[in-house]
Amino acid sequence: MNNNNKSLIDKLEAEKKIRHEEWITLLSTYTNEDRTYAAQKARAVADSIYGKSIFIRGIVEFSNVCKNNCYYCGIRAGNTCIERYQLSRDEIMDCCKAGYEYGFRTFVLQSGEDLSYSCEDICDIVSDIKKLYPDCAVTLSIGEKSREEYAAYKAAGADRYLLRHETADEEHYKKLHPDEMSWANRMRCLRDLKELGFQTGCGIMVGSPYQTVECIAEDMEFMGDFKPEMIGIGPFLPHKDTPFRDMPKGSYELTLFLLSLSRLMLPRVLLPATTALGTINPRGREEGVLAGANVIMPNLSPTEVRKNYMLYDNKICTGDTSAACRGCIEARMERIGYRVEVTRGDYLC
Ligand code: 5AD
Ligand code: FES
Repeated sequence: MNNNNKSLIDKLEAEKKIRHEEWITLLSTYTNEDRTYAAQKARAVADSIYGKSIFIRGIVEFSNVCKNNCYYCGIRAGNTCIERYQLSRDEIMDCCKAGYEYGFRTFVLQSGEDLSYSCEDICDIVSDIKKLYPDCAVTLSIGEKSREEYAAYKAAGADRYLLRHETADEEHYKKLHPDEMSWANRMRCLRDLKELGFQTGCGIMVGSPYQTVECIAEDMEFMGDFKPEMIGIGPFLPHKDTPFRDMPKGSYELTLFLLSLSRLMLPRVLLPATTALGTINPRGREEGVLAGANVIMPNLSPTEVRKNYMLYDNKICTGDTSAACRGCIEARMERIGYRVEVTRGDYLC
């Protein structure tokens, strides 16, 4: 056991922050024992707040059309090798109906940045869902919009919004995105979302190309200050039809460690064991939960379109039905002593 790292983990838990140089030390010298130590503490913190309950969210990937060209992402506009699809309002409602029957009480509507759904279209879909299922939360994950649009979504009843910041380092952001995209606008979006009262999620890919320990330290410091209600952390996985096709995938172990450190820094945070974590390792979602995660987001999209929402290669569940994923998650959680909870699963203030 590295005693210095152990005391840094203790300090993070007690004070909810550590200094920049301390982050650098911890992230560049951690051992497997340090990870185990952090995971045990993180799981104890999560258990003390959320008990043995794991929240599930049904993700409806309603369009893979995207105007952007992020270098890492399989549904980037420049990828001509995929078949594009857009679900209609009725198709989205059908996914939610099935999801409700499976016990989902949060629906996550996710898409590329697809301008063919107007602000009004999105608001109509959100308010339809809220009208039919008043006991459910709606999360949007549809990218960068104006403050006015975010306000309209909120007024229509949306509860939460996911928008990973991707990196807190502006120079690093430029290496992951073309010039048309700006880190400053990303940050503006996150501030607006929080001010408008959304439960707001940010997050990163672990091991994204050109990411350094310095970048991750900045990410953790940013999240410690921003205090998101949700954090999405998964490993970077290359996609064969993107500029980053030959880049190495991120570290599974570092992803688990960062989940634990996030839990210690922000004890109440809603922290998913992500699909990317389940893709890089078949036990990823279980080990993610055991490292401090408390949310799983199975797919509710129609099976026919799933293969076209490939953000990275080999994404799991693309051949499965919603019913299969629901059952699969329940069984996986029970095997490690946790249970799936049928509630909205809100952030506990
Ligand atoms: N590997 C891992 N995660 C990815 N994402 C996009 N492309 C990849 C990839 N190749 C993540 C981004 C985005 C979220 C929806 O999916 O962080 O914000
Ligand atoms: Fe989809 Fe296991 S969660 S098959």
